[in-house]
Amino acid sequence: MLSKNYLMLNTQRLQNFIYPFSSVQIQQNKMYSKVHFLNKLNLPSLPVPKLQQTLSKYLKSVEPFLNEHELLKTKNVLKNFEENEAPNLQGYLENKAQNCENWLSDWWDNTAYLEYRDPVTVFSSPGLVCPLQQFSNETERLSYAAKMILGAINYKLLIDRDLIPLDKMGKDLLDMNQYKKIYGTCRIPKPKRDEMQFNSDAKHIIVVRNNNFFKMEIITPENEVPSFNQVLSQLFYITKSSEVVAAPVGVLTSDNRDNWSKAYGILSEDKMNRASLDAIESSLFILCLDNPLPKWNDEVLTLAAKQCIHGGGIDGNSANRWFDKTLQFIVGTDGIVGLTYEHSPSEGQPVAVLTDHVVNYIEGNAWKSLPDVKTERYPEPLVFNITKELDDAFNKAATNVNKLANNLELNVFNFTNFGKEFVKSQKLSPDSFIQIAIQFAFYRLHKVPGAHYESAATRKYIHGRTETIRSCSNESIAFAREMLDNTSSEAKKITALKTAISAHKNYTIDAINGFGVDRHLLGLKLAAKELGRELPELYKDVAFSRSSQMRLSTSQVATKCKGVMAYGPLVHNGYGCCYNPRPEDILFAVSCFVNNEETNATKFRSALEKSLLDMHNLLARNQKHKL
Ligand code: COA
Repeated sequence: MLSKNYLMLNTQRLQNFIYPFSSVQIQQNKMYSKVHFLNKLNLPSLPVPKLQQTLSKYLKSVEPFLNEHELLKTKNVLKNFEENEAPNLQGYLENKAQNCENWLSDWWDNTAYLEYRDPVTVFSSPGLVCPLQQFSNETERLSYAAKMILGAINYKLLIDRDLIPLDKMGKDLLDMNQYKKIYGTCRIPKPKRDEMQFNSDAKHIIVVRNNNFFKMEIITPENEVPSFNQVLSQLFYITKSSEVVAAPVGVLTSDNRDNWSKAYGILSEDKMNRASLDAIESSLFILCLDNPLPKWNDEVLTLAAKQCIHGGGIDGNSANRWFDKTLQFIVGTDGIVGLTYEHSPSEGQPVAVLTDHVVNYIEGNAWKSLPDVKTERYPEPLVFNITKELDDAFNKAATNVNKLANNLELNVFNFTNFGKEFVKSQKLSPDSFIQIAIQFAFYRLHKVPGAHYESAATRKYIHGRTETIRSCSNESIAFAREMLDNTSSEAKKITALKTAISAHKNYTIDAINGFGVDRHLLGLKLAAKELGRELPELYKDVAFSRSSQMRLSTSQVATKCKGVMAYGPLVHNGYGCCYNPRPEDILFAVSCFVNNEETNATKFRSALEKSLLDMHNLLARNQKHKL
């Protein structure tokens, strides 16, 4: 669905803004094909897997976590389920699938995101660190911010006009709808279940500094985009008008969703507050002009990830945010730049593609040639009336965000010994290689199998989001044991490595085709709920709890630029591990909780580096022998 406003954007001036190359080049570049909103690509619907197929795959996936006795019991539970409750539930799912485009979409939005009551900060919203900058003065910082704004708007207009390259997986085209939901989107806190608001026709953004929010017009009533100098002078105006630190209204958005929805109700009662909320919620995105973080003894990449995930607590920039907005760009005086994004409407990969576009735009020249446009508007400060009740809510949210920030241990690093080209040269899948290295690192450190979540995109289906790749397998554990066994031979280790990688790759292929086990089991569980049935025994079984207590929450989020996405762990004694495999290096962001004694991000990093090197050296030695 193309917005009327953007169809009007037809002046040569805007054409130049949208297309940083000539129209002839666009026609020649087949990547810039047209894609229309909804299902114009004629993508198929997400399939409902066969019951028997899922149950046998599930049984195999839980084996690493069970002893013989437990396994026997699980087999009985599964047999019972298959013969009794499951056929009806499966019928319910199949019927649902026949009557909608994607049987999982609404359930997924609600259960994975909108009904989740923990804060989005740390628990759900990732940060993405962009290549770090050095600003020697405020003009340099604001110039970068102005280019970032223009780069982001440039990409938004390309999305609106269906001019972004189509994502593909092998030969399959992927659903592009997530791109359409990134700009103008806001999550609205509600008791029990939040709501989503989409405002992609908006013409303004929000800039926030020292907790002061400003509404800034970025597309004029004549549908023109201001020049670089015009954006820059607006940013100067904002910095001059925001020297005094304002009330920390934004910190409320970092709180538990129930606390926040209560405070939101109070905030909304006041007319002026309501108008300010409307301006924030309906904006295309937010740009946060950040102060340096409190002194922490972290390497700069780790510090940057903290800035992008939580903002460093109330004495840092955690109130200089509106965590409900899908897109918040961050530009710190200390050269830390990146973004934080609210996860509900999109996975990380479309946001990573957007990031590459913005980084290229900043590094290119297109922004230089934008002409001045007629604009008389100054940024408008957004005012909030603060009551005693709200003040109490600020204090509560501030205490909570400090706890969150202090409890998140991060270790973000650039592994430079090799990248995905080496793995490809070994005729192995780079992603599976990295996943098996993460498995090995966990086993090496904790000496037990670690239930392991990896996101696989199911975007070859209309409105597809993700399926879980269960990376912990009999094969991954056998490999880790082989590697740690001093008496084992090189040949055995290599065989175990290749077997583990191939088992992971096979699961990946199943998952991207919609034939993993987790979404199907979730569907059957929700079907039982909707039918008013009792929760089947399968979901109370120890196999289910152990195999879905994901001690490793991992995903590949690839940018071409030297960027890295980071997020918190899924469970109290787990790790988050996001990575960006590039041709010659890999960026990793490892996280865990400080108050958990079992986990330690620094130790995990060492174990991971060691595992990657051990695997590399094993293959390299073998190759030498062959030569
Ligand atoms: N020999 C040589 N090369 C191989 C190979 C082999 N055996 N196996 C794979 N390769 C190549 C591939 O052809 C590909 O080449 P390219 O870079 O030229 O395209 C490259 O190695 C990477 O492939 P691989 O590492 O196997 O997998 P992938 O990049 O397709 O990633 C997933 C796998 C699961 C990460 C991906 O399918 C996916 O779903 N991504 C989305 C994840 C997501 O949602 N993240 C966000 C969460 S918020």
